[in-house]
Amino acid sequence: MTATPTMQAWQFERYGHYTDALHWTTRELPMPGPRQARVRTAAAALNFPDILIVAGKYQHKAPLPAVPGVEGVGVVEAVGPGSKFKLGDRAVGFCHGGGTLADAFLVDDASAWTVPAHITDEQAAALSVTYGTSWFGLTHRAGLAAGETLLVLGAAGGVGLAAIQLGKLLDATVIACAGDARKLAVCRDNGADHVIDYRREDLVTRVKEITDGRGADVIYDPVGGDLFEQVKRCVAWGGRLVVIGFAGGHIPQIELNRILLKNMAVVGLAWGQYLDRGSKLPEKAQFEFYDMIARRQIDPVIFRTLPFADVKEGLRLIESREVYGKVVITR
Ligand SMILES: NC(=O)c1ccc[n+]([C@@H]2O[C@H](COP(=O)([O-])OP(=O)(O)OC[C@H]3O[C@@H](n4cnc5c(N)ncnc54)[C@H](OP(=O)(O)O)[C@@H]3O)[C@@H](O)[C@H]2O)c1
Repeated sequence: MTATPTMQAWQFERYGHYTDALHWTTRELPMPGPRQARVRTAAAALNFPDILIVAGKYQHKAPLPAVPGVEGVGVVEAVGPGSKFKLGDRAVGFCHGGGTLADAFLVDDASAWTVPAHITDEQAAALSVTYGTSWFGLTHRAGLAAGETLLVLGAAGGVGLAAIQLGKLLDATVIACAGDARKLAVCRDNGADHVIDYRREDLVTRVKEITDGRGADVIYDPVGGDLFEQVKRCVAWGGRLVVIGFAGGHIPQIELNRILLKNMAVVGLAWGQYLDRGSKLPEKAQFEFYDMIARRQIDPVIFRTLPFADVKEGLRLIESREVYGKVVITR
């Protein structure tokens, strides 16, 4: 009888805080099904949802025992029937249910792409979710036009820094909002024209000062929470408020009369849904991002690269809000 092939992985057998629940352990090597491939992990990016996945609070719940990690890159080592990949391809994938914090992980054709030689493993691991979310939010959902003013909340976070870089690429005036001087300096380094420290400055007053009283044409909001009470007063007439996430901890409300009087739109963006629904747009965008990197128009910001052994330290850095940009784990 042949032994079941195994691999090492960061696994949790029960939901809980990652400090207790997550263990580096042996589990079965996953086998690719139809239109799937198995990738030998070279690098994986950490995201706040990894903490939620382990805690059992994420929208997608993988059957236990499970492995967190929604982004990863490496070399294809096995393919299922009909896979678009071939053995030896370098591939990056988004795994909505987790799985990349392991020796190897499965990718679906619809949410994985080949990686050209000019993209490093760290760049590939840090690219898809942040730039995908910000690109679809700013272009498809908000229709950000050249010359408009873009206000980015949580601007030193993963999606926030991508929104700053893409906003500048789209010729917008970018106002970045973050919670300390170190993060605001990073926002400036990444192209922000104006910065606001929301802990020390009044957001509404500053946005009105910068925009001659008009407000921002597009507001990119991955934070929500208490800050939203100020954010909803910063929208220009005809503006678009893009709902990205709720890092601030709770889901805020907005009055319909405000939407009517400002002639504004509140639009949602769930990037993963484009993949789940089989849209071809993420693939097109992914290859555009590779070209943007080659032309030095965008550059994923990597706060720290850590070895696989230090996954818990990476999650701690994210949880404590010390991070700007991304934390990437490498083999
Ligand atoms: N809709 C989508 O398709 C999509 C895709 C990706 C991510 N998201 C969501 O977007 C949000 C941001 O993602 P990200 O990867 O940019 O995260 P991140 O790198 O951790 O950045 C989040 C930023 O939010 C700010 N923040 C404010 N209150 C916070 C709190 N209570 N806890 C933690 N951060 C807080 C922090 O900035 P300051 O310290 O400067 O305040 C931080 O830099 C998350 O909620 C994520 O789930 C949505």
